[in-house]
Amino acid sequence: MTHRSWMRSQGFTTEVFDGRPVIGIATTWSELAPCNVHLHRVAESVKRGVWQSGGFPLEFPAMALGETLLRPTAMLYRNLLAMEAEELFRANPLDGVVLLSGCDKTTPGLLMAAASVDLPAIMVTGGPKLNGKYQGTDVGSGTAVWRWEEDLLAGRMTQEECFFAEGCMSRSDGHCMTMGTASTMASVAEALGMQLPYSAAWPAVDARRYETAQRAGQVIVDLVNSDLTPSKIMTRQAFENAIRVNAAIGGSTNAVIHLLAMAGRLGVPLSLDDFDALAADVPTLVNLQPSGQYLMEDFCYAGGLPAVMRELGDLLHTGAITVTGRTVAENVAEAPCWNRDVIHAMDAPFQPPGTGTAVLRGNLAPDGAVLKQSAASPHLLKHRGRALVFDSPEAYYAVVADPDLDADENTVLVIRYCGPKGYPGMPEVSNVPLPKKLLNRGVRDMVRICDGRMSGTAYGTVVLHVTPEAAAGGPLALVRTGDWVTLDVPSRALTLEVPDEELARRRAEWTAPPPAASRGWTRLYTDHVLQADTGADLDFLIGASGHEVPRESH
Ligand code: FES
Repeated sequence: MTHRSWMRSQGFTTEVFDGRPVIGIATTWSELAPCNVHLHRVAESVKRGVWQSGGFPLEFPAMALGETLLRPTAMLYRNLLAMEAEELFRANPLDGVVLLSGCDKTTPGLLMAAASVDLPAIMVTGGPKLNGKYQGTDVGSGTAVWRWEEDLLAGRMTQEECFFAEGCMSRSDGHCMTMGTASTMASVAEALGMQLPYSAAWPAVDARRYETAQRAGQVIVDLVNSDLTPSKIMTRQAFENAIRVNAAIGGSTNAVIHLLAMAGRLGVPLSLDDFDALAADVPTLVNLQPSGQYLMEDFCYAGGLPAVMRELGDLLHTGAITVTGRTVAENVAEAPCWNRDVIHAMDAPFQPPGTGTAVLRGNLAPDGAVLKQSAASPHLLKHRGRALVFDSPEAYYAVVADPDLDADENTVLVIRYCGPKGYPGMPEVSNVPLPKKLLNRGVRDMVRICDGRMSGTAYGTVVLHVTPEAAAGGPLALVRTGDWVTLDVPSRALTLEVPDEELARRRAEWTAPPPAASRGWTRLYTDHVLQADTGADLDFLIGASGHEVPRESH
């Protein structure tokens, strides 16, 4: 009576309490997360589907993470969203959950929660914005910003032109429409089998986005009835599919961290090296910014992710089960491709196999680092240069315009103390713009090395996720300006050319930075966050705890 009576204050008729499945709709809607601001309306479409299939839908908020506004970085809060959503899924009397996400961290955060609770779940991402249009050309969110930032710095663009251009870039609801982290994670969710076919690519304002949401509302009731839970869908095979799909779409390096964290929740064995090994024979098929030319709207019209997965064929585990209750092979068997310039065929790929994420190791990154080859400059993939070291992005920005900065195109910029503990939260600061004096000379890329992340919309020859990070005492903390550094991507090596004895001497002089906070979430985070090579989850959140509540409180 207590449960029913209080719920009836919302005006529900008594039939909804007849034992039908209760479906939670977790929405990361917020006006502070502009990429997710339409999810409230997407939820209405999900509810239609749930009612249609005899379920009882109840929408509730989960922490919205707006990539562009949250300080110091939305990544600091991915694990907090995952923890909050996990507890909400478990503590409320739900039979299944629909996960509504969009902006970068909301997709992995909700999937991590669903993985740990293992209630039947389906994801509906909010979809990308329409293509940006500026001066007769398509402009991609994020990717254009990096270019305009350099144009502004070099005097090729005025501030007024920037104001106008930014409105042209963001002209509809939706998340970034490049193959940045949001589009990557939406595609990864589809490749894992956790969202319906085509769901990643429908633009946020497309009616079929809402149709798909309604269908997801129907499907979640089926998932509850058949007890098809995330752990039965997100298997090792599904993760291998996601890694290969990520290579084929030219996806974000952030997928590495998020997939490792998700696998950790499920107990699926997955390592950093799997990303290099599994992507080695996968060509890049999708010609999207930042690696290519087109944007998500074009990807949708060309056939979306099912066309890519059909093309990959036996490179995928086509027998893997998905939320449709059918296999990957059954989902994509008839998927057409309407534009081979956007989605290339396997026999004429956009970029050859082996141009995806490379995992580097060496005395500078004993536990690994990653580099997105398709976004790098080919002539820098084998490079030797002297380090120019900064202990924060801010320290670099303070001198970026200095005409006397001691740097040339061969210099290796090292930006450190940007890892999970360091910044804290491992922000997307690694692709710092080049020194102004080099931009003015027409230099467009340099080797950069950082223990932070890079936006999925960014490009450049940037070594990321260096592990262990500097703040945890990794060798990156021991580099000094003037040291020689060798990057050899074909050999997967990142080497600091300093003798071990000298490194030992420097280590003895090194002191760890003070903790970033003395209390609150940041303290909990920095005390417990794991390194990037295992997904930067909190140590006590690894694994699953199921959906049983420890004991009744009423
Ligand atoms: Fe939200 Fe790019 S800022 S998806």
